[in-house]
Amino acid sequence: MLRADVAITIAPEVNKFLATPRKMLIDGQWVEAASGRSFAVYDPATGEVIASVPEGDKEDIDRAVRAARTAFDSGPWRKMTTSLRGRLMNKLADLMEQHAEEFAQLESLDNGKPASIARVADVPLAIDMFRYMAGWATKIEGNTIPVSWPGTYFAYILREPVGVVGQIIPWNFPLLMAAWKLGPALATGCTIVLKPAEQTPLSALLLGELIQEAGIPAGVVNIVTGFGKETGAPLAAHPDVDKVAFTGSTEVGKFIVQAAGGNLKKVSLELGGKSPNIVLKDADLDTAVVGAANAIFFNHGQCCCAGSRLYIERGIFDRVVDGVAEQAKQIKLGHGLNPETQMGPLVSDEQLTRVTGYLQSGLSEGARPLCGAQRYGDTGYFVEPTVFVDVKQDMKVVQEEIFGPVVTALPFKDLDEVLTVANDTIYGLGAGIWTKDLSKAHRLAAELHAGTVWINCYNVFDAALPFGGYKQSGWGREMGHEVLENYTEVKAVCIRL
Ligand code: NAI
Ligand code: MG
Repeated sequence: MLRADVAITIAPEVNKFLATPRKMLIDGQWVEAASGRSFAVYDPATGEVIASVPEGDKEDIDRAVRAARTAFDSGPWRKMTTSLRGRLMNKLADLMEQHAEEFAQLESLDNGKPASIARVADVPLAIDMFRYMAGWATKIEGNTIPVSWPGTYFAYILREPVGVVGQIIPWNFPLLMAAWKLGPALATGCTIVLKPAEQTPLSALLLGELIQEAGIPAGVVNIVTGFGKETGAPLAAHPDVDKVAFTGSTEVGKFIVQAAGGNLKKVSLELGGKSPNIVLKDADLDTAVVGAANAIFFNHGQCCCAGSRLYIERGIFDRVVDGVAEQAKQIKLGHGLNPETQMGPLVSDEQLTRVTGYLQSGLSEGARPLCGAQRYGDTGYFVEPTVFVDVKQDMKVVQEEIFGPVVTALPFKDLDEVLTVANDTIYGLGAGIWTKDLSKAHRLAAELHAGTVWINCYNVFDAALPFGGYKQSGWGREMGHEVLENYTEVKAVCIRL
């Protein structure tokens, strides 16, 4: 493992942003928590405190929901033309572009990811999401329905914004998750209370400043920082919230469903995964090896769709696993703001404990590491990229989401066998296939239980491509026009002629 060790430089605007105690955004005002409390934000590469943000609770959620309700029921947002709504969203995207470097650095300091990755992935994808969704603002249409008595009735569909939306997001792609959530809600005319993850609240707060600067009216987007139980739970349970959208663990997803039951608010969920990545004998193996390494090690394995279960056809097993391990050993770990760094730390002490716990579990169940399988260094929350072989399908490391740079590799004999094991999971988010054989590719794609199937590629995201899960990976889809379903109610209007 190579440690990238050069001094880091932080842009002056970022230093200024960090040095000022942050506030949260409610009804167009930057405010402290009602309780007056705040909490520390850490740089996971050093464990040092870099900022402080308000610690919201039920009282702040109540205030934010009231603001969102007023903005929805009687503010200018729903009355403005959809054209103007789209223009304001495009203005926001332009402002984000002007602040792209600040976002990349903040994301790196807050989450640990390399700024070099945030510059080419998180930030441009987030900007693109607002642009793509801005285009939808003017295109949310209903249709006319030919009811069964021609000439007697005229019927049509209206698609209306669902109302006040609560959005709870995780820490793995803080800005991008905010964009995935806010984009469609804004395009459809909803108003929002957003709760960023407690580990990574900073980029959402900078985004809040730009939302104001873009001219999106007060109360349309409210941002309340705080912890899951104290801030997230009252938002999910709030009787005046019409819909909750959540991305995070499957465990908390189930709490969200229960909390939403009080007023039967609509729910969409994007949850965990344990995605199979399947390499067939006929694949271009050089590409497959690099692809398989990227599938698991991108974002340090902290991706809900990480290709964490590698299934390799017999005959090429050693070549592929050795290749992936070789890739893993080349990865330079270090501070995300060091330009040499290819992989940063895990996001938090808690995740370090969780992931190293899985490493121990794998080792004690007899899995053999080709590389890694331990913490890296004693500062920050680094874990060495790990490839486990000699694993069995029923081991914890094969069944449970690890959310770290840890892949398990198993050989298979034929398509039937690999389909059985690939689908043997409670999750169904992503899947990868590496082959040149069209028939095999299509057969596997059709039979894998997953919301996204990548063939000869992995981790390809686009604002136009729907993303979401089968089984316990979630409800509903993000992105594409599919996501608009999450944020609209359908009204059937029927007129007697
Ligand atoms: P989490 O599911 O606890 O946190 C995600 C978000 O939910 C955060 O904003 C958090 O404050 C909020 N939250 C937590 N408890 C809540 C509650 N009772 N009511 C409402 N909101 C609540 O995830 P955590 O603890 O950060 O990570 C644990 C595991 O979850 C990870 O190891 C990983 O396996 C999985 N995870 C999956 C993600 C995905 O993208 N699908 C993202 C983050 C974590
Ligand atoms: Mg949690």
